[in-house]
Amino acid sequence: MADTAGVTSASALQAAETRFTDNAIDAPRVQAMALLAHTLGTNRAGVLARLRDPLADRDAAVFEDLVTRRLAHEPLQYILGRAHFLDFSLRVGPGVFIPRPETERLVETALRAWNEDHAWAIDLCCGSGAIAVALARARPQARILAIDRAATPRQVTRQNVREHQVGDRVTVCGGDLLTAIALTRRTGDGLGAIVCNPPYAASGEVVQPEVLDHEPALAWEAGPAGTEIYARLVPQAAELLRSGRPLLLELGYGQAQAVRDLFAHDGRWGQITIDDDFQGIPRVLTARRR
Ligand SMILES: C[S@@+](CC[C@H](N)C(=O)[O-])C[C@H]1O[C@@H](n2cnc3c(N)ncnc32)[C@H](O)[C@@H]1O
Repeated sequence: MADTAGVTSASALQAAETRFTDNAIDAPRVQAMALLAHTLGTNRAGVLARLRDPLADRDAAVFEDLVTRRLAHEPLQYILGRAHFLDFSLRVGPGVFIPRPETERLVETALRAWNEDHAWAIDLCCGSGAIAVALARARPQARILAIDRAATPRQVTRQNVREHQVGDRVTVCGGDLLTAIALTRRTGDGLGAIVCNPPYAASGEVVQPEVLDHEPALAWEAGPAGTEIYARLVPQAAELLRSGRPLLLELGYGQAQAVRDLFAHDGRWGQITIDDDFQGIPRVLTARRR
């Protein structure tokens, strides 16, 4: 444990930043600042306002504990208990996938593709509920069905939809992909889009220790090829979606052609488009039911 005698916020911050830099933790200043703000129950501006103040022994000990957890590659969002997504934040924690910036592009694309005349959409593989919350916030009249196979994400999604006051329009349920869904004529007519960020890493693929050691494998690992969930989902979605309605999928790096081929093989889809993420990587596939 670091010596905390005579420590100010500024010196604690500097020491943490140095340790993060030495241990190749990304954005060391930003992460140290976030942890100190969390320790002090304030925000960045609050930390900056009291940089010269001595850090109480109790706060120094808490901060040291958080820094040590981060040095052990526990994700920053798990330590803070929250993640940012689009223009809001969500609860996250162990057992729940941390929403990524790439998925913001999936939401933006879905909102363009989903015709407002259709009453509801599915957020499949909902995790924290990031997509469900974003869609419900953007479409104040719409309803969302959020599905996840695992209990902890479903529980966290329920908390997040309540916190964002969309709980009356988002239904959370368990199930293996779309196997639990049976549509009537009316609900089928109202289904406007299926949006899914599934697990898409291949078994054995090299992933960061933050992911490998902390995020649940069910959330990111699909199977030996990485495309197994897409392969099961494409025919299931074709059974549910009416003509012209879109299925939107987030893609893993280098998977665009393989996933396109799955749609071609199924044969019930037209108008396939792929949008890049902010790094220029093909990331969001939109396919409309023929
Ligand atoms: C990559 S995470 C996506 C979470 C969230 N939608 C997001 O974008 O941040 C994938 C999620 O799919 C869930 N999942 C994995 N296999 C599933 C299956 N067969 N059926 C339903 N959900 C599944 C996992 O529990 C996990 O929460």
